Amino acid sequence: MAITTSAPGKLILLGEHAVVFGKPAIALAINRRFRCRVEPSEAMRVNGREIDPAKHPYTRFIIDEQWEGGPLDISMDSEIPSGSGLGSSAALCASLSGALMAMSGGLDLAECARRSFSAELGVQGSASPIDTSAAVSGGGIAVNLEGQDPLWEISRGERSWSIGAIEVPEMTLVVGYTGVNAPTGPLVAKVARYRESNIFARDVIDEIGDLTLEGAKALEAGDLPRLGELMTANHKLLSILGVSCRELDRLVQAALPHSLGAKLTGAGGGGSMVALTESPQQACEAIRRQGGVPFIVRTGEPGVTVDEA
Ligand code: MEV
Repeated sequence: MAITTSAPGKLILLGEHAVVFGKPAIALAINRRFRCRVEPSEAMRVNGREIDPAKHPYTRFIIDEQWEGGPLDISMDSEIPSGSGLGSSAALCASLSGALMAMSGGLDLAECARRSFSAELGVQGSASPIDTSAAVSGGGIAVNLEGQDPLWEISRGERSWSIGAIEVPEMTLVVGYTGVNAPTGPLVAKVARYRESNIFARDVIDEIGDLTLEGAKALEAGDLPRLGELMTANHKLLSILGVSCRELDRLVQAALPHSLGAKLTGAGGGGSMVALTESPQQACEAIRRQGGVPFIVRTGEPGVTVDEA
C-alpha cells in the first residue's frame, strides 16, 4: 500500500531565534508544500537512489528513529527551496513522519509534531519546534503565548514550548526570497554563542519576546499598522543579533515604502524576508528590482495531510 502526504512551508511573523530560548513567536503555514510518497519495496530508496546521509540527513534520521518495518521506496518533491527560511526541512519532517505514522497505525498530529521536531533537532543540533509545529498544524500558530489552549507541548532539557492555534485576520503578505541559501543550524549556533558571551544579546532576545507579545495583541485586534511596525522593529533586533545580511536588508528596504512593515523571516543569513502590505504588486516589483524573487502568500493553509492511501 502506498501513502502520499504533504505538509506546508511556513513564515515566521515575529519571534524567530528568540523562540529557541523559550520566548514567544508566531508562525503561519504558507501555500508552498512538500510532498512525499512512501511505498514498501525490496530496497530502501529515496527518489530512486540509495539514501545518501549527506544529501538526505533528515530522511536518514527519520528512518533510523521512526521506522522498524521493511525497506521503503520514498519519493519526495518540494515547492519550498531548501535554506530559503520557509521551512523546507520542517515540511519534509512533517510529511515523512506523517507518512510513516499513516503506514503503521494512523496519523496523530501531536505525536507527528514531536517526531518531526526530534528529527529537526537531531540534524540541526539546536532548534525550537515552531517550524515543525506549523508544518504539522497548518494555519497560524503561536508559541508560548500565555492563556491559550495548547495543541501540544514539547520540551527539551530546561526549555519547553506550548503551541496553540491562532486566528489570522485578513491581510496580505509578500515573501521575497534572496536566492541565497542559508542552513539554519549555524545561524542558531551563532546566536547561542552571542547570547552566552554577551548580556546585551540576552536583552535583545528578551525584547524580541516582548514585541512578539505585543504583536499577538495587534493580530488579535486586527491592528495591522501596529503589527507592521513591530515586524520592522523585529528586523532591527534580528540585525543586531547578526542574522541579517546585505541581500535581506536590501529587500526589506525596498519593500518598506510599499508596506506596513517588513522583516527577515526564518533563520536569516540569506533565505527570505516578508512584508505586510496593502500594495502587494508594488512591494513585489520593488523586491524584484533588487534581485529578489517575490510571491504573494496565501495563509490559512492546511497542515500535514494524508492525500491518498
Ligand atoms: C527558523 O525558521 C526559526 C529559528 O528560530 C530556529 C528554530 O526556531 O528552530 C531561527
